[in-house]
Amino acid sequence: MSGPTKTETRTKTTKKTRTRAGAKKQSGAAVRDRLPGDPSAEERVARMIRVDQAGEYGARRIYEGQLAVLGRTPGGAQIRHMYEQELAHLETFDRLVAERRVRPTALQPVWHLAGFALGAATALMGEKAAMACTVAVEEVIDEHYASQAEALGEDEAPLKETIERFRAEELEHRDLGLASGAEQAPGYPLLTAGIKRASRLAIWLSERV
Ligand SMILES: [Fe+2]
Ligand SMILES: [Fe+2]
Repeated sequence: MSGPTKTETRTKTTKKTRTRAGAKKQSGAAVRDRLPGDPSAEERVARMIRVDQAGEYGARRIYEGQLAVLGRTPGGAQIRHMYEQELAHLETFDRLVAERRVRPTALQPVWHLAGFALGAATALMGEKAAMACTVAVEEVIDEHYASQAEALGEDEAPLKETIERFRAEELEHRDLGLASGAEQAPGYPLLTAGIKRASRLAIWLSERV
């Protein structure tokens, strides 16, 4: 009889499995090809919900900080509009955390203070700096939601649809910020680079802690 022996076949299969596990994870395949230490599919979705709730909570606090300073100015109405959409986003993720029994981030008290401080500090620099803050944060959230939507399979279609819908609203916020002169804020490139770095770090931490 020709063809590979049993041992050869097994070696080939193991090799193939390892390569697939190392490659970009596809929803269903990731569960089977999991290596020790990799999060399960369930844990990956839990992480997504945890970080998204944390992010929407942070967004709520940023806009509360901005409204504390700029709420009564002519630009206040636009900030309030974005704030109200963030409240709806947060409500959805609060519900998902409860329904799926996801452990919420332990860092919420940090985002409570840091979000408000970021919003208020940029607002104190002026309305354009507040808009620059929105642009920076929403650009990071756009990337973040895009990669989550891509990673979710058909078994999580409703969650994927929710994330896509919120992502579209975050992009509207970014566009409102740009239309309101964000790029004319003093030190725009440095300011937005700093806020983006901080936002990415906050995402990384909230997925895990
Ligand atoms: Fe949001
Ligand atoms: Fe937003």
